[in-house]
Amino acid sequence: MTLHVTRSAGGTESDPAVVFIHGFPFNSAMWQPQLEALPPGWRGLAPDLRGFGRSELGADRGELPSGSRTGGRVALPDEPVLTMDRMADDVAELIKTEAASPAVICGLSMGGYLAFSLWRRHPQLVRALVLADTRADPDSDEARENRARTAASARESGARPVATAMLPLLLSERTLDERPEVGDAVRDMILDTPRETLVAALAGLAARRDSTDTLSTITVPALVLVGENDGLTPLALAEAMVERLPQARLQVIPGAGHVANLENPEAFNAALVEFLDSL
Ligand code: MLT
Repeated sequence: MTLHVTRSAGGTESDPAVVFIHGFPFNSAMWQPQLEALPPGWRGLAPDLRGFGRSELGADRGELPSGSRTGGRVALPDEPVLTMDRMADDVAELIKTEAASPAVICGLSMGGYLAFSLWRRHPQLVRALVLADTRADPDSDEARENRARTAASARESGARPVATAMLPLLLSERTLDERPEVGDAVRDMILDTPRETLVAALAGLAARRDSTDTLSTITVPALVLVGENDGLTPLALAEAMVERLPQARLQVIPGAGHVANLENPEAFNAALVEFLDSL
C-alpha cells in the first residue's frame, strides 16, 4: 500500500522529517498551513491515510485484537475494520522509505491515536511527538454507540450527514462566525471521504485500545497542544496526558476548537516551530 503524500516545498531528503498525521475524517490538506511554516532544516510529509484523500482503502485493513469492542453495529460482520495499528504501520513504512532518520510525529486527534500506536510498534522511528487535540483513553460505551449511529448514517447516505453533524462539534464558535472559509475547508475534507472509509474507520476508532499506560513509556520529548475551546478533547484531557508523559509541555491554542491547526495556525505554528528548535 503506497500512501499519497503531500510534501513541504522546502527541505531536502537529508533533512529530518516532520510527519503530519491527520484526524478523522480529514486528509493531508489540513496540514497545508504547517507544511508552509516549517523552518529551514526540516522537511514535512503529510500522508493521506489509507482510504482518505487520494490514498486507496485497500483490502488489508488490520486485525482487531481479540476481545475488542466496536460497539455492535459500528461494523457489520462482513465489513472490514480500519484499525489504528494498520494505519500506524502504513506511516511506519512511509518513514522507513522516505525519512533519513527518526521523524517528529505530529498527530491531531485520530492522528494522535496513531502516534501512540506508532510509538508502541515502531519506537525507533520516532524522534519526538506533537500531540494535538487528542486523548489517550479509549471510547466510552456512549461514544461507541454514537459511532454506531454515525456509521449507520454514513452507510445509508454517505458523508453529507456526517459533515452536518460533526462541523459544529469540530470548530469553535469563533471560527464558525469569523472564519467561514475554515468551516468550508473542513466540510470539503469530510465530503471527500468515501462512505466505506467512514464506516471502516469508525469501527477502528471504536475498537482502539487504551493508550493511558503508553504515556509513561514515551521517553522522547512531547508537545501537547489543545484548542482553548476544544469540546471533543478538552483541556482537562490534555493536562492529564502531560502529567503522565515524562518529557512534555502543554500549550493552549487561543480561540480554537478541535481543529486547532486550521483555526489558529499562527499560534499552532509558533508552538510547533519553537518545539522543533528545541530538539
Ligand atoms: C478526530 O478529529 O480525529 C476525531 O474527533 C477522533 C475521534 O472521533 O475520536
